[in-house]
Amino acid sequence: MSKTIGILTAGGDSPGLNAAIRGVGKAAIGVYGMHVVGFRDGFRGLMENRSVALDRGQLSGILTVGGTILGTSRDKPHKMTVGQQTLDMTDVIVENYHNHHLDALVCLGGGGTQKNAYRLHKQGLNIITLPKTIDNDVAMTDVTFGFDTALGIATEAIDRLHSTAHSHHRIIVVEVMGHNAGWLALGAGIAGGADVILIPEIPYDIEVVAESIRQRHRTGSSFSIVAVSEGAMPRERAAALQDAEDALAEARKHKRKSRERDKGIKDSQARIDEIATHLSNATLALSDELERRTNLESRVTILGHLQRGGTPSAADRLLATRLGAACADTIHEGTFGVMIAADGAEARAVPLGEVVGKRKTVPLDHPWVKTARSIGVSLGDT
Ligand code: F6P
Repeated sequence: MSKTIGILTAGGDSPGLNAAIRGVGKAAIGVYGMHVVGFRDGFRGLMENRSVALDRGQLSGILTVGGTILGTSRDKPHKMTVGQQTLDMTDVIVENYHNHHLDALVCLGGGGTQKNAYRLHKQGLNIITLPKTIDNDVAMTDVTFGFDTALGIATEAIDRLHSTAHSHHRIIVVEVMGHNAGWLALGAGIAGGADVILIPEIPYDIEVVAESIRQRHRTGSSFSIVAVSEGAMPRERAAALQDAEDALAEARKHKRKSRERDKGIKDSQARIDEIATHLSNATLALSDELERRTNLESRVTILGHLQRGGTPSAADRLLATRLGAACADTIHEGTFGVMIAADGAEARAVPLGEVVGKRKTVPLDHPWVKTARSIGVSLGDT
C-alpha cells in the first residue's frame, strides 16, 4: 500500500522552502508513489487540521518562489496560544497525525523546529526534518538552505552602501540578521568589503572600533562600512549576559521546586530578557557612539526581513532540492527521528538527538575569522 506523508514549514520563512517542499514531494510521488499532504502555518495547521493535498500540479511552478506556499508560524506544539490561553496541544497533534493516516511527517525548520519535531518523535511519530534558516546556525549540517540567498542579499546591500558612504565621507553601520550567530554578518562583511565586522561570538570594544575608523581616516579613507550582526554586543554587555545565563543554569540545577529556585530562575530570565530588549536598539546606539568618538557623520541601515524575502539563489535551490529528494529516500527506507543534513556533496541522516540543544555559532578559529583579520578588517576586539 502506498504511504502518506505530511509536510509542514515552521519558524521564520526562508528562501528555498518551496524548493525543498517540491524536492520531497516530487521524489515521494514520482519515485515511491506516496501521497503528500501539506499542513498550513507550521505545527498550528496540524493542530487545527488545516491541510492541503500536494499533488504534481501543486508542486509545479514553486521552485523559484520565495517564502513558503504552506505558510509558517513560530507556534510550539507544547506551548500553543489557544484563545486567551497557552496550552500543551501535543496530544491533539498526535491524534491528527493518526487521523490523517500519516506514515511520516516532514518538518522543515531551524533550531527551534528541530527541537519541537524531536519532541513529537518522542511521542511515537515518524518524524524527519530538513535544516532551513538564513542564520546557518543548525548543528550537524554543513549549511542550511536560505543562508546563501540571504548572504547574497546582504552582500549586495553592503556593495551598494559603499558608494553613498564614499560620496558623503560617512560611516555607515549596516545591521545584518543572524540571531545569535555571526555567519551572515561575517560572510557578507568579507564578501562586501566591510571595514569593520562585529559578530555575537566576538564581543567588541567600542574604542577599538572607533580607533580602527580613525586610523582609516588618517591614512586617507574618508568613509567606513561597519557590518554588525543583530546579536553583536559590547564586551560589558556580553559579560552581563554570560553572568545572567550562568545564574539561570545554576538555578535550574536545583531539582527540587522551591520559592528560592523559582525566584532565581525568574530573576535571571528577566535579566536576559532585558539585555535582549536593549539589543533591539544596539545598532543605533553603536552608530551614535562612533559618531561621537570619531567626529564623522554616521548613518544606520537595518536590512531586516529583506534578507529573507524573494527568489532563492541557485545554490539554495540545489541544496533544498537534493536534501528534499534524499528525505523521500529516507522515508522509503523507514528511518525516522533524523534530520537530513548536508555533508559535502552528500546528504546524511543525523539522529535528532544529536542536533537539538546545540547552536552552530562561528568558531573563533574559523577560516573566515582568520581571513577577515588577515586582510585588515577590524573585528572590534584588538
Ligand atoms: O531565524 C531567522 C531570523 O530572520 C533571525 O535572523 C532573526 O533574528 C529572526 O528570524 C527574526 O524573527 P521574526 O521574523 O519573527 O521577527
